[in-house]
Amino acid sequence: MKRLRCDQTPAWAALQAYFDASGRQFDARAAFAQDARRFEAFSQDAPHVFADLSKNLIDADSQALLLALARQCGLEQQRDAMFAGELINSTEQRAVMHFLLRNPPLAQEGYAPSATNNIAEAQGQVEATLTAMLAYAEQVRADAAITDIVNIGIGGSDLGPQMAVLALGEFAAAGKRLHFVSNIDGDELAGVLRRLKPGNTLFLIASKTFTTLETMTNARSAKAWFEAQGGQGIARHFAALTTNVAAANDFGISTTFGFWDWVGGRYSLWSAIGLPLAIAIGAAGFREFLAGAHAMDAHFRGAALEDNLPVRLGLLDVWYRNFHGFSSRSIAPYSSALRRWPAYLQQLEMESNGKRVDIDGQPLPFDTSPVLWGEPGTNGQHAYFQMLHQGTSVVPVEFVAVKQAAHAPNDLPGHHAKLLANALAQAQALMRGKADAGGHQDFPGNRPSTFLLLEQLTPASLGALIALHEHRVFVSGAIWGINSFDQWGVELGKVLARDIEPRLHSGDVSGLDGSTAGLLQRLLST
Ligand code: F6P
Repeated sequence: MKRLRCDQTPAWAALQAYFDASGRQFDARAAFAQDARRFEAFSQDAPHVFADLSKNLIDADSQALLLALARQCGLEQQRDAMFAGELINSTEQRAVMHFLLRNPPLAQEGYAPSATNNIAEAQGQVEATLTAMLAYAEQVRADAAITDIVNIGIGGSDLGPQMAVLALGEFAAAGKRLHFVSNIDGDELAGVLRRLKPGNTLFLIASKTFTTLETMTNARSAKAWFEAQGGQGIARHFAALTTNVAAANDFGISTTFGFWDWVGGRYSLWSAIGLPLAIAIGAAGFREFLAGAHAMDAHFRGAALEDNLPVRLGLLDVWYRNFHGFSSRSIAPYSSALRRWPAYLQQLEMESNGKRVDIDGQPLPFDTSPVLWGEPGTNGQHAYFQMLHQGTSVVPVEFVAVKQAAHAPNDLPGHHAKLLANALAQAQALMRGKADAGGHQDFPGNRPSTFLLLEQLTPASLGALIALHEHRVFVSGAIWGINSFDQWGVELGKVLARDIEPRLHSGDVSGLDGSTAGLLQRLLST
């Protein structure tokens, strides 16, 4: 697909001219004073998610130019190529079809297999695997002897299921404790194993490749612990979630649930990697989760760009990163259940779009992924919000709030209203600011934020929220012309660790830089 690089489009030049002329000085407070309909114009309903974008540094002109940029960069064609199953992950020659994992049967969607893809065949495998996995999840839920489920995986094989299991804790089966072990630091696994009995434990070894150092090390230790503790029946107490079923079998695990190379690790929660969630919320709950995501897929595929929430968010990200020069975004879920949301988004966005070359490997002269960081509200308010209000850098904030609490309001009267009041107040304070001649109590204001609102945190709304962000990351990646679906940047450290580990035993520092050699010697000194 031949396309113009974003910074060579007429829209990019127009955006720069607009930014230099007036965009830089844009004041959201003045914009609200001038336009009584600003909230309506800059908010967007999407499946299960309402977004208020009106406190952002945008107006009708900048939005129109951003939409022109999307069109000139071929965003719609790139989106359609993904949904057509084309090999858009070109550095790995793979299709990107995580959306298929949450598709209802193909006939309803008008898909047809083409020369470049085998969507119909893939969809059949998806449905068969999903059915088997959900039957297994129900079997585990019904098995009273299994009280503890330990997911061993890292990155996409940990962050998604962990975040979702915590988020949907209110829907989880009683009597099942879910644990997540990711770190190679043995303290993490040891801390979990200490509390377990082999006969009551199910280990899920979650690894797309079944080669990841952390996961294989933890899996081997878990198996050794199981056997040393007198555990019987690996087939009943270990299952593998992987594209590499042969490696799982070689490891000694016969209960396996597969997925495919067209599912990226950070997009794999919808596949067998979602098994911990399926065990927690059940087969019906998991299907609702998939349906929520599918509704967002349909919105992304079908809504006009101007009414398309992933598109509007992704374009805002480009506007902030490349024109305003904002280098980070703070993620503020006002929901304790969403406490792993910022960590999950870090992988989704920074591993996808933290790239410095375009899809053809040519260096880019503009910035790509911002830094994402955050903590749940209201905790963050008592930690770093000081900097957001009065620091020298502008950091756009993304609030996520849930209208209805999961707990019965009468059980804990007042909590939820106070939580929501704080979310609204922080967004308001960031924008409004406060003048004070003394300086110390002066808040500049005009600090942008987006407010995402869910009616309730349910399997369906969580599915939609996640898919929204997958597509938003797709949008900014497509505008920047990068491959959002590879992750070569994590390889070098893995290779160097393989070289260093034996040196920690031998003490050999030859060929190392002075710092690494000095640290290694300090680690080995008695
Ligand atoms: O470190 C990079 C990465 O490949 C992630 O993209 C992935 O989610 C994670 O490692 C785990 O990989 P796997 O599921 O193959 O163990």
